[in-house]
Amino acid sequence: LLADSLYIINNFAREYFTKTLLETEEGQNIGLSYFEERGFTKETIQKFQLGYCSNERDAFARTALEKGYNLDYLQKTGLVTIRNEQPADNYRGRVIFPIHNQSGKVLGFGARILVKNDRAPKYINSPENEIYVKSKVLYGTYFARHAIDRLNECLLVEGYTDVISLHQAGIENVVASSGTSLTVDQLRLVKKYTNNLTILYDGDSAGVKAALRGLDMAVEEGLNVKLVLIPDKEDPDSYVQKIGAPAFRQFVETNKQDFVLFKLQTSMQDIGNDSNRKSQLVNEIAETISKIDKVEDFTRQQDYIRQCSQLLKIDEQGMITLVNKFIR
Ligand code: UTP
Ligand code: MN
Ligand code: MN
Ligand code: MN
Ligand code: MN
Repeated sequence: LLADSLYIINNFAREYFTKTLLETEEGQNIGLSYFEERGFTKETIQKFQLGYCSNERDAFARTALEKGYNLDYLQKTGLVTIRNEQPADNYRGRVIFPIHNQSGKVLGFGARILVKNDRAPKYINSPENEIYVKSKVLYGTYFARHAIDRLNECLLVEGYTDVISLHQAGIENVVASSGTSLTVDQLRLVKKYTNNLTILYDGDSAGVKAALRGLDMAVEEGLNVKLVLIPDKEDPDSYVQKIGAPAFRQFVETNKQDFVLFKLQTSMQDIGNDSNRKSQLVNEIAETISKIDKVEDFTRQQDYIRQCSQLLKIDEQGMITLVNKFIR
């Protein structure tokens, strides 16, 4: 089967890249020192199976082809590309982050350039193929699922390194959206483990706006969504490394806010005294509240109606009527 072949190639590549990182001079001097400078321990590097792809044009491609792996399949995984009519490595000179499925099989890779520049993207990610469907994957699920289940909460961050640093700090119930907006499939993946989703994004990030767009979807899926805004210029990785694990945990607990109320408050600041926009907002909030499953979560819906009416300074009964209009 094609899917099986892709898994086998990815697994071979994962091993190859970790060997390159840990056992070659180039890997140690460039890749390993990069990770060490970022504060990742050996243990963390091994746990997340991080790797390094040599800067030679085709070190991986040659080895894989010699071992008999099929060129078409190597291209399908995105590991190998044809350059000047010859197979060449796509991730050369980059550090490698394998992306695992829930049972630990490698679906694809994120490959980070060592020094940011304007000519090349910071990360190159595997292309979509028979096994890697971006919209269905949350990075780190394999490492986080037990902690999510145990703590009955899933933290959502933007990047690979956010997941990794938080794990190293002992915060293990965390997955990453990998810089894309949330999809229904990703929300359902979270739902398999918990109803409580806490989004940890930086305040100025486009990610918060994208997540806001997915809010109704999340509420509809029965998720209880909270938001923690990470201070400007920081992300969970840089921030936990800066202030340490206990302070970071404290920060999250202190700054956790309800995402529906957050949306309401920020929108209210935006609209000021414009009464048209206010009634539009009232409608939007009523629609969001209407997505809460009334049977399963009646008190939650009532709480939102009460809190939102108060914030909007409108009559609670009017809000109830409006909410009910949206429930067919
Ligand atoms: P960020 O730009 O916040 O990167 O993008 P990061 O995770 O903090 O990475 P470092 O700390 O600079 O190494 C968040 C996520 O968006 C995706 C990646 O999944 C990244 O982790 N991304 C970002 C890409 O896919 N490509 C890019 O060029 C940039
Ligand atoms: Mn559970
Ligand atoms: Mn930012
Ligand atoms: Mn970062
Ligand atoms: Mn970041």
